[in-house]
Amino acid sequence: MRYLIKLPLGTSMACLLLFPLAAQAEVPFFNPASGSSIEATLAELTLEEKVRLLHGSAMFYSGGVERLGIPELAFTDGPLGIREEVSRDSWDALGLEDDYATYFPTGTALAATWNPDLALIYGEAFGREARARDKDILLAPAINLIRTPLCGRNYEYFSEEPLLIARMAVPYVQGVQRYDVAACVKHFAVNNQETNRSSISVELDQRTLHEVYLSAFRATVIEGEAGAVMGAYNRVRGIHVCEHDYLLNTVLKDKWGFQGLVVSDWNATHSTIDAARHGLDVEMGTTSRAFEDFYFARPLLQAVRNGDLEEAVVDEMARRVLRVRQAIRQGSPDRAVGEINTRRHSNIVRDVAREAIVLLKNEDQLLPLDLDTIRSIAVIGDNATRQQSRGGFGASVKAAYEVPPLEGLQAALGDQVEIHFAQGYHPQYGGNPLDRAWRRPIDHRPDRELIAEAVELAQASDLAIIVAGTNRDVESEARDRPDLRLPFGQEALIRAVQAVNPRTIVVIVAGAAVDLSEVEARSSTLVWAWFNGAESGHALADVITGAVNPSGKLPFTLPRRLHDLGPHALDAFPGDGETIHYREGIHVGYRWLDRYGIEPLYPFGFGLSYTSFFLQAAEIEKDSVTADATIRIHVSLQNTGEQDGHETLQVYAAFPEASIDRPKRQLVGFQKVFLQAGEERRIPVEIPVQALAFFDESAHAFRVPAERYQLQIGTSSRDLPFALDIEVRD
Ligand code: BGC
Repeated sequence: MRYLIKLPLGTSMACLLLFPLAAQAEVPFFNPASGSSIEATLAELTLEEKVRLLHGSAMFYSGGVERLGIPELAFTDGPLGIREEVSRDSWDALGLEDDYATYFPTGTALAATWNPDLALIYGEAFGREARARDKDILLAPAINLIRTPLCGRNYEYFSEEPLLIARMAVPYVQGVQRYDVAACVKHFAVNNQETNRSSISVELDQRTLHEVYLSAFRATVIEGEAGAVMGAYNRVRGIHVCEHDYLLNTVLKDKWGFQGLVVSDWNATHSTIDAARHGLDVEMGTTSRAFEDFYFARPLLQAVRNGDLEEAVVDEMARRVLRVRQAIRQGSPDRAVGEINTRRHSNIVRDVAREAIVLLKNEDQLLPLDLDTIRSIAVIGDNATRQQSRGGFGASVKAAYEVPPLEGLQAALGDQVEIHFAQGYHPQYGGNPLDRAWRRPIDHRPDRELIAEAVELAQASDLAIIVAGTNRDVESEARDRPDLRLPFGQEALIRAVQAVNPRTIVVIVAGAAVDLSEVEARSSTLVWAWFNGAESGHALADVITGAVNPSGKLPFTLPRRLHDLGPHALDAFPGDGETIHYREGIHVGYRWLDRYGIEPLYPFGFGLSYTSFFLQAAEIEKDSVTADATIRIHVSLQNTGEQDGHETLQVYAAFPEASIDRPKRQLVGFQKVFLQAGEERRIPVEIPVQALAFFDESAHAFRVPAERYQLQIGTSSRDLPFALDIEVRD
């Protein structure tokens, strides 16, 4: 493992086993002292050999140099777990018996925990699984901003709020890299939709680019020392990202000091000389061309031989590849070996999944279940039994196992309660029945027979749990949803069940927002349960039975209607086929609703608990600070209920004196805490003054104007009972 552990003198081995010490000082991922050995290797390589390092030699490998004992570099997807092995020259699965992996809760689920400590542990588990399968580069985390809920890949991404993404992604990257695997943050940059993703050109102003869309990437590169960055498919201001001099060279490499390698998304490279000069280091892709015909294969070699490209450019690309290989200790006998599908990983997955679940509404106190009053439960809905580790296009994992909701509920309650299942709805698609489901339009017609059966069961049961939502075919890479509708006629199902059994709990399994306005108005009890990993069923049961007190908070807004969000209000999605203008600028997500006083269905940062918390006071240590300081506030919080539980304190900044356009409020810090029933505590929250910065286009830098700011403190973006003033001075 790559951390230095400082032991007090005399620490015995037994003590070590009993009290595993926390990491004290992280060794930098890129060892600054390694330069000379990299240069020595570089000097030994012929031009052909250097070029071999720079392009795919198989679907998920880039080339090695046998003569010098340099193996290929093994890449693996991705955000859900270590992908199954595919053929060297096609997407065909090899059908192996030893490539099962742990299915991890997806990006939005992880973000909903608002718990960076869990993100670190999650990253570590990912790193161990990657090593156990002998991988070098993990193609994750995927940290594009959720600009619109319609984007098909939102479930892989984290949030609509750059700060939340950054604070969760940095420890994730660090966790992965502790196990000698490079994390590849993707998709750099401004890849926020799947519609026309390979050609669309995003038009946005410089400030929005840096402040909103690059901000989490910057954090993972500068703080997290991410080993790799993936160049995205799209164009930004007319230029494909994989040959974007400004994004790759000026910003990523020069300004942020990125030491690692830039790899193209699969088939996202469009040139040889431009891409090489403008900052791409490794070209990966599919087999639509022979690997030798890749832009960075024979054509690159030719370009140098012809004198069209200086060999020094190739040297720098190869140097970066060697640097990453060195950082992950490729070939070293003491490289981390990892583990896969272990109990430890199941436990981590369950911990994350439990903390991710968001309790949205519990008006009749149906939750946690009162087992004295319940003899029978009707579990209804396709998502109660559906495995979400697979489906759709792209990111999938051949899960070693997956416990869907019904199975989890049966395991937790089956001894005490009779549980029956009714399908309720069936995922149906129009279009060509021979096509894969994710390509086909959704059929929204309710299935009357399945509804009748569900109604009958619900009527005869003490309680109904409807497990509704989307699925992995509805939310998929390579397509965006056409609208926010809850698919497959589920509204009719929910209405019908609620009409016969008012004791109905609605659980939404989805990775991104759906239109819940009708369902919400009729439901007393609503739970959001995500694509929540291998233990999703157990985690849901933990929350429903009260074994775990829910503490997840929404990482995005649940709007009342699509047009309440900036890109849709402004008709700025999905563009005209060529170009998309990000007209809402910096006012993304909840910032748009706040600016125009629009009520969300549920606000960003919202989530209930089985206990109640009372914010008594908030104080600030110093109310005048300089731009390089850290603001320290103390919040007195009491758990006023009867159960232990977590609460997440959220701090938003408002800008009463701003002379430029700023969001009405913007998240600048948060702190998740655990309080026992009745406990009261003064909780310190630290906020670097830099969190108040805006991107000053004229200075081409972040700047915190010397003026007065207001810090609003509470437990969601719309529940902020305290406000503190702070002065930033020169
Ligand atoms: C996706 C990437 C993924 C790559 C390799 C692309 O289609 O956009 O996220 O890592 O394929 O599977």
